Amino acid sequence: MLAVAGAPAAAALSAQGAALSATSPRKGGNPEAAKLTSPTPDSPEGRAAGRRTYQRLCARCHGAEGKGDGGGAGAGGQPADFTDDTWLFGASAGEVFTVIRDGTSADMDSYAERISDTEMWNLAHYIRSLGPSAARP
Ligand code: HEC
Repeated sequence: MLAVAGAPAAAALSAQGAALSATSPRKGGNPEAAKLTSPTPDSPEGRAAGRRTYQRLCARCHGAEGKGDGGGAGAGGQPADFTDDTWLFGASAGEVFTVIRDGTSADMDSYAERISDTEMWNLAHYIRSLGPSAARP
């Protein structure tokens, strides 16, 4: 896990240190998060950029091909397989974006302090493209 030295304190924080909001990830999905849309449209270029960020930050847990087999989760969690049809926190781009933004567990951390919103949307578009859920809204 990357160390986030001096992460700012805020009033309402999740266990992962992200600010809690109506769009924070929830098991089973969050309709409010699903309404979020990317300011930068899903595109081949965006997915390619997402893939580069993915290999740098995510592959050690989720695996080079996104099968959840990277082995890097140290807190006992099972990294999600992005090539199957199961999205515990919802399959929409908005829901996937908020998982990356806010985190869900000690292993699945918040990335809001590390990468830009654009990079997080690129990641959401890229990992959704790995499995059959890509066809979903
Ligand atoms: C230290 C290991 C680790 C790293 C690094 C990591 N993840 Fe995860 N990720 C997990 C685990 C474990 C889960 C399951 C979390 C849970 O069940 O609460 C998860 C879940 C997810 C989910 C939810 C999938 C679903 O079924 O709804 C998404 C999306 C996700 N990760 C994306 C990413 C992205 C993008 C990155 C890189 C920026 C990343 N993860 C980096 C361990 C990791």
